[in-house]
Amino acid sequence: METLNAISNRCSLKTHLSKKAIEAEKIAQVLDAARLAPSARNLQPWRFVVVQGDEAISELASAFTETNQEVRNAAVVIVVCAREEDDVTSDGKPYYLFDAGLAVENLLLAATDLGLVTHPILMFRESEVKKILEIPDEYRVVITTPLAYPDEPSYEAAAKARLRERTRKSLEEITFYGRWAKQGSI
Ligand SMILES: Cc1cc2nc3c(=O)[nH]c(=O)nc-3n(C[C@H](O)[C@H](O)[C@H](O)COP(=O)(O)O)c2cc1C
Repeated sequence: METLNAISNRCSLKTHLSKKAIEAEKIAQVLDAARLAPSARNLQPWRFVVVQGDEAISELASAFTETNQEVRNAAVVIVVCAREEDDVTSDGKPYYLFDAGLAVENLLLAATDLGLVTHPILMFRESEVKKILEIPDEYRVVITTPLAYPDEPSYEAAAKARLRERTRKSLEEITFYGRWAKQGSI
């Protein structure tokens, strides 16, 4: 799948995760894609905790809200952390979380390319996640995502429906040409 296809086909589907084992090589490929993301001053603030196995995932899920318990059905959950120490603040704006976001999008796209399902989730109790995973104090837990093979056979139809129903603001709404509020075209 080419990059643009992965972008078009990526969707968040925590409702369709399976426990099918993911090859270590595939997990490494996904993490490697994340690692190759750009970052301010190349500080690479991201760190990834790969959580596998029913018991470990179940313990982690205990720190998630009721509305995100579907992570229990995943073969893997990736927990993305970053610390402010690896930040380039410019004009009062911290960039380490932005950098982590770039890495996460690479990760999501690589997973899509490899036929894996993801779903970014931020609705967890951070202090509990940190305690369970023994994450050092100075790191923030930025986001988590299940990583799983899709639960067949219902996945295909669910993904199609999700992509069909995807709502995004139009280009006209979010893009200005030359000056703010000046609409037009390239
Ligand atoms: C930073 C971030 C946090 C999110 N947190 C949650 C979450 O806690 N629970 C959830 O069900 N979805 C969460 N999502 C998924 C979004 O709702 C989803 O990406 C959005 O609706 C667009 O759908 P799509 O990813 O299928 O294109 C999160 C997404 C992002 C980018």
